[in-house]
Order: sequence, then structure tokens, then C-alpha cells
Amino acid sequence: MLFTRQSRSMKSSQLLWMTALVILLGTTQACSQNGAEPKATGTLASAPAELRDGEQKFNANCSTCHGGGGVGTSQGPPLVHKVYEPNHHGDAAFQRAAATGVKAHHWQFGDMPKINAVKPEDVDEIVKYVRWLQKQAGIF
Ligand code: HEC
Repeated sequence: MLFTRQSRSMKSSQLLWMTALVILLGTTQACSQNGAEPKATGTLASAPAELRDGEQKFNANCSTCHGGGGVGTSQGPPLVHKVYEPNHHGDAAFQRAAATGVKAHHWQFGDMPKINAVKPEDVDEIVKYVRWLQKQAGIF
């Protein structure tokens, strides 16, 4: 009898621990999910000095649609994406996109207008920065 009662009380305390664990796990998961987004912008701050010009030009001319750090917005796709790695969209595709614009074909964001404010030299610098972001993200 005594043994049975004891084991029963052990069970209920085990149940309590299990519940606590489930709640704890649930909370940790929610936290790590929230933490996923700032990670992408975390790379922004650490761009090497020689890429700062490209970063600035990207932020001034491209990030309204392609997002800070190239993560995309509701206006345009992420450039930090395997679709835009060098073998799929080489540097020439970036020059063409800026010089003539892009007819929507990969996504549902609509067309990209040509970006008059950037010269080919600017796009060169922007591409270097975007390739760096892609590399950081392990895309190539
Ligand atoms: C007004 C919004 C907007 C701005 C500003 C913008 N883009 Fe885009 N861009 C888009 C959209 C939308 C697409 C996707 C079109 C599709 O394939 O559906 C795109 C696609 C691209 C592509 C892929 C081209 C291809 O051949 O498929 C490149 C490269 C690109 N943009 C680079 C840039 C660069 C570099 C800048 C800044 C100089 C820039 N974009 C500024 C909206 C924008």
C-alpha cells in the first residue's frame, strides 16, 4: 500500500516536471524563431571596409525593394537567394537589371524599373557587396 501511494505521488511529480519542460521548450522555440530575423541584418554591420561603398549604394538604390542586407521586401525579391547566385545571375544580369529594368518573370512582385541613379561602376560595387552577402549566407 505504502509503496503504491509513493509511486503514485512520484508519477504526479514527474507529470509536473514534464509539463514544466514542455512549457519551457515551447518558450525557447518561440524565442529562437523571433531571433531568426535580426540575424540576417546582423551581417550588415560587419561588411568589410572595402565593401562599404557598395553597401551604401545598395542601401540608397536597391534596398527599398530588395531589403536591407538583400533579404527582400514586399516590393522585391531577396537577392540573397540561390536564384541569384553567380551561376544563375552573373554580374552582367545585375548590370542589365539596373540599366534596363527587369520584366517580372521569377516572382509576383511586378517589374523592376531601370535605376537611373546608378552608373555601371556603381553596380560593380553593389554586385561585390551582394556577392559578399550571398557568401555569408552560404549560398555559394
Ligand atoms: C522598385 C523596386 C526595385 C528596385 C529599387 C530595385 N529592384 Fe531589382 N528587382 C525588383 C523586382 C520586383 C525584381 C524581380 C523581377 C522578377 O524576376 O520577377 C528584381 C530583380 C532584380 C534582379 C534579377 C534580374 C534577372 O535577370 O532576373 C537583379 C540582379 C536586381 N533586381 C538587382 C537590383 C539592383 C542592383 C538594384 C539597385 C541598383 C535594384 N535591383 C533595385 C525590384 C526592384
